[in-house]
Amino acid sequence: MEAVTPQASSALIKKAAAILRRGGLVAFPTETVYGLGGLAFHARAIRRIFAVKGRPADNPLIIHIAQQDQLHRLSSNISSSANDLAKAFWPGPLTLVLERAEDVPAAVSAGLSTVAVRMPNHPVALALIHAAGEPIAAPSANKSGCLSPTLAYHVEETLGDEIEMILDGGPCTVGLESTVLDLTVDPPRILRPGAITTETIQSVIGKVAPYLPGHDAVGSPGLKHTHYAPKLTMILVHADQWGDTLNQWLSSGKRLGAISLQPVSRPLLYHRVMADLTDFAQSLFLALHEAEAMGVEVLLVEAVPKTGLGIAIMDRLERGARP
Ligand code: TXA
Ligand code: MG
Repeated sequence: MEAVTPQASSALIKKAAAILRRGGLVAFPTETVYGLGGLAFHARAIRRIFAVKGRPADNPLIIHIAQQDQLHRLSSNISSSANDLAKAFWPGPLTLVLERAEDVPAAVSAGLSTVAVRMPNHPVALALIHAAGEPIAAPSANKSGCLSPTLAYHVEETLGDEIEMILDGGPCTVGLESTVLDLTVDPPRILRPGAITTETIQSVIGKVAPYLPGHDAVGSPGLKHTHYAPKLTMILVHADQWGDTLNQWLSSGKRLGAISLQPVSRPLLYHRVMADLTDFAQSLFLALHEAEAMGVEVLLVEAVPKTGLGIAIMDRLERGARP
């Protein structure tokens, strides 16, 4: 794990780019979560990404770019909506699904005729893509079905022995994976909710089909696989049942933890109070990693309203929680 400080930055980025050009894998920070990067046009690197993650071959990868003109190599059909969205939100946590250019290896997109692209808003990610000179395919840098990493340390723990390098750029500021928007359908459809909300996208391109849980398996193959699964039992609790539910579980004898917006007056093995929805998004995966590491058996998580950023937070919670 290499800390990218201003002093060490350019040498490390150079080293990482050389690894990528040889077909190696480098984990790097983005504003959302850490990515497991390999060159998008390097067939062996792509095969290794799938192998290291234990990722099903039918789950496509997102390609990361650092400048707008790289988009033209990835898709030959870039609509005015795509251009407008790129202008409004890149670099940032919005992934666009477009028609895939013939040159882009089919394996990156799991054989689909589309390709997912985003420009991450993180200086280390952008510097790495620039230095590599090519787009970088990168899923979240975790084993398939496990929690996404928001610290370099999370990557080190699970993939440290299997990849060539981890660039440590500190904690991810957004904390949840990017919004995925399919622009190949009319109206465009949200395949995965993230920090850039439906309303915000609509303010730029007009009508957008909102995210429909359950419906997503068709358009975004990744979402049909288990995701965001913590090892502990996570229970979602409605805000007005918080006190009662907590009291019930306190007498259960289980190793209990909690994540909530409300304070908790009783001592728990693990507790994290989120200041607001932004903090909730930013710190959710971190808190889940911490609770797991402390051996929490049952984690009570306060449900948040399903509006704005709350939609993305609840999506991750509902997919990780016990039904
Ligand atoms: O914030 C993020 O997007 C992070 C960072 C590293 O950029 N990456 C990330 O990648 O979350 P991953 O592989 O964990 O999730 C990619 C999601 C999956 O749900 C996948 O199915 C979807 O994007 N996806 C990728 N290509 C697609 C395509 N061509 N059509 C539809 N969905 C696609
Ligand atoms: Mg992932």
